[in-house]
Amino acid sequence: MTKIISVASLKGGVGKTTTTAILTSIISHEYGLKVTVIDAEPLCVFTQARSKDYYDRGLEIIIRETGKTPQEISRDYTQKDLIKYGKDSYDGGNVSEVLTIPITQGEELINIIKEVRKRGEYRSSKIDILFVDIPGSSDFFVKEIVRNCDGVLVPIVAAPNDLRGTSVFVKQLHQYSMEAKDFIVKAFINKKRGVIEENQIDAFLEHIKLTPFKSYLSNLESFGRFSTIVSFSRHKTTTSKKAKKEAWELTIEFLDSFGLVKKDLSNLEDYMSLGEAEMRKISLHDCIQKFVVESDETSAESLTESI
Ligand SMILES: Nc1ncnc2c1ncn2[C@@H]1O[C@H](COP(=O)(O)OP(=O)(O)O)[C@@H](O)[C@H]1O
Ligand SMILES: [Mg+2]
Repeated sequence: MTKIISVASLKGGVGKTTTTAILTSIISHEYGLKVTVIDAEPLCVFTQARSKDYYDRGLEIIIRETGKTPQEISRDYTQKDLIKYGKDSYDGGNVSEVLTIPITQGEELINIIKEVRKRGEYRSSKIDILFVDIPGSSDFFVKEIVRNCDGVLVPIVAAPNDLRGTSVFVKQLHQYSMEAKDFIVKAFINKKRGVIEENQIDAFLEHIKLTPFKSYLSNLESFGRFSTIVSFSRHKTTTSKKAKKEAWELTIEFLDSFGLVKKDLSNLEDYMSLGEAEMRKISLHDCIQKFVVESDETSAESLTESI
């Protein structure tokens, strides 16, 4: 069964898109689950990041195949060519799809969500997880999207304005949980900085009846300047180790708490420190041993297929 989830908040700038990118990156590239993202943000940040992945990959392959320099390539190929080339080079196994449908086309968006819920696929592509990246607003369609998801992950930033917005939003989410018993509401702390804030935020979260994840994301440069979806997969050396570890822990807790993949943090450090080649070799053993898929047969199937 497809899980439809939105990383959502009434506020902009709390890290919805960044978190969606982190989860998508790790879940599709490392777990091999089929992830599709609906990018409903007006600025299409997610779509741009995905295009940059394809572009980088296209460039890399053409350099390897033709021996041309990047200058020669930019003379001989358009940006569109490179993106298409990179996209075509993925075998479709574990790369996430992005559907760019702005929130202004809300009705179409809701119909797609309903279709995916019913059929577990979109345009014949099977989907394990559908993320919907929505703008932070109380727009009618934003609310309708949230209501039509299986659950919501709320990034909480410890700043007075963000907290006020969160409080209103979470009340609404609790209401949805009362209407539909299996609607899941989870939260985690984003842009974490100091201890004083932490104490305040604990009291706040208790007040709004929300227990945050144990994992969190610190305020880190690597999160602030992510520009591609693959930034958080293990072999990306440009992303700091601390950022990758936090991103991994968040993803593992996310998968566990939304009933997708069972949590097991043992050996995470070892697993993360493997090189790409070693990682490929051991992934079967490793995934099956560590990330036993519990309740979702569809996910189990595609996890095994992708390995
Ligand atoms: N943990 C973090 N550390 C540092 N910068 C972050 C972190 N999370 C998000 N950001 C930055 O904050 C800004 C807003 O994040 P974004 O994901 O676009 O928020 P939203 O989608 O909620 O509007 C972006 O510049 C992003 O790079
Ligand atoms: Mg966003």
